[in-house]
Amino acid sequence: MKSFKPSPWVLPQPVLILGTYDKDGNPNAMNAAWGGQRDPDEIIISIGSHATTENLVTSNALTVTFATVDTMVAADYVGIVSAKNNPDKMRRAGWTIEKAPNVNAPLFKEFPLTIECEVSQLLDHDQTGCYLVAKIVNILCDEAYLDADGNPDMEKMNLITYNPIQHTYVSLGTAVGKAFSIGKQLK
Ligand SMILES: Cc1cc2nc3c(=O)[nH]c(=O)nc-3n(C[C@H](O)[C@H](O)[C@H](O)COP(=O)(O)O)c2cc1C
Repeated sequence: MKSFKPSPWVLPQPVLILGTYDKDGNPNAMNAAWGGQRDPDEIIISIGSHATTENLVTSNALTVTFATVDTMVAADYVGIVSAKNNPDKMRRAGWTIEKAPNVNAPLFKEFPLTIECEVSQLLDHDQTGCYLVAKIVNILCDEAYLDADGNPDMEKMNLITYNPIQHTYVSLGTAVGKAFSIGKQLK
């Protein structure tokens, strides 16, 4: 086995897109890989000092959506350009933007699944950023991405994950087994 120094290499990582409004109501988006589920109705995300971070303080809400093969180019773009010095950012991203129905945050219509959240806590908030704890208020799924039972069908969404070693986006594949079940054969 070869050893490596401590690195942010939890695999795979999500490609979260965080949508917020600034204090004047202008929409913004940023890309975040360091996030995940904290509780059934809570998400936690490690956030640096970004325009989004300021927006979270003033708007107290966000949308969290998941990048797809089709949205990848603009998803990467919103992760390499800041609204702090690019007022044109969201126009260049090119997404269709509406206000989310249940929170004070923008909804990007090109994404299959969006989680509407309110800011619950900004833990350890200082000039370097914070750990955002976001409370899930509602989940919206484009009807084109539902399964036969009416639930969101992840396999239909063409989601991508982030590979933090080679710095690539990787397309997710199809289901290979039933969780909480396939292992029963070894019981
Ligand atoms: C693949 C990728 C993953 C990223 N993950 C994070 C993250 O987890 N946390 C973070 O604070 N910034 C992350 N960023 C950087 C922000 O998305 C970036 O600084 C963005 O420009 C901030 O935009 P804003 O200043 O308009 O809010 C990531 C960027 C990319 C491309």
